[in-house]
Amino acid sequence: MSTRQRSRLLQWSTWRLALGMPSFMRTGQIGDGREAACAAHVEANARPGDVGDVLATIDAFAYEESMLVNIGDAKGALLDAAVRRAAPGLVLELGTYCGYSALRIAREAPTARIFSVEFSPANAEVARRIWAHAGVGDRITCVVGTLGDGGRTVDTLAREHGFTAGAVDLVFIDHDKRAYLPDLRTILTRGWLHPGSIVVADNVGIPGAPAYRAYMRGNEGLLWHTAEHRARVEYQTLLPDLVLESEYLG
Ligand SMILES: C[S@@+](CC[C@H](N)C(=O)[O-])C[C@H]1O[C@@H](n2cnc3c(N)ncnc32)[C@H](O)[C@@H]1O
Repeated sequence: MSTRQRSRLLQWSTWRLALGMPSFMRTGQIGDGREAACAAHVEANARPGDVGDVLATIDAFAYEESMLVNIGDAKGALLDAAVRRAAPGLVLELGTYCGYSALRIAREAPTARIFSVEFSPANAEVARRIWAHAGVGDRITCVVGTLGDGGRTVDTLAREHGFTAGAVDLVFIDHDKRAYLPDLRTILTRGWLHPGSIVVADNVGIPGAPAYRAYMRGNEGLLWHTAEHRARVEYQTLLPDLVLESEYLG
């Protein structure tokens, strides 16, 4: 075990994160104020208008101050590559948290419009502060809601934000693991994808999205072509994880 790994395990913030999981499932926050502290840390320490510096500042906060459930720097590189491959004009993200992954997408796709759906209004506020500091607040919109709220959020995306048939080039799924497959089905039912659209899903290994993984495997070469990227859970090197990158074949 590396020195960094050992110090990670000894950090109170890591154990506090584990203890905060029931709160996280209920509210979208760990329960000790670390998400708002992250926004304040960015505002105090990152160069305004510099997306790369904002991302590096969030990563340093997650390694050294309070662990966060962002996709993180290592798995983030997989997301970056998928964004470059999709070259998106319109992006849908499910699960905003502090806005970290949306920032990575904005950096790799400088002309894309990005819509991130998040059920926690408090997280939406944190993310908006961070995006504004990074200078991309006009390109990323947080929509508070869920795709499973009876059509309210899906209708808002369609009516107000240009989600029409075949309009979405990239989807990043990183929210409630049980909702991965139902929400993907909602997106398919609406017809928002086109052949060549890319869907990236984080945490398919831990906490795990077995139904989603089985669906992708069952439709390999038919509706989807999927690459399973072996990775590690964010901000540490001990626990394995999986990121799925799936191309829609239509
Ligand atoms: C793992 S975090 C997202 C991390 C973020 N994508 C990143 O890498 O920076 C999951 C987020 O999904 C939100 N969430 C959970 N269930 C949701 C749902 N059904 N719809 C929208 N957001 C949800 C949580 O509040 C939390 O902020």
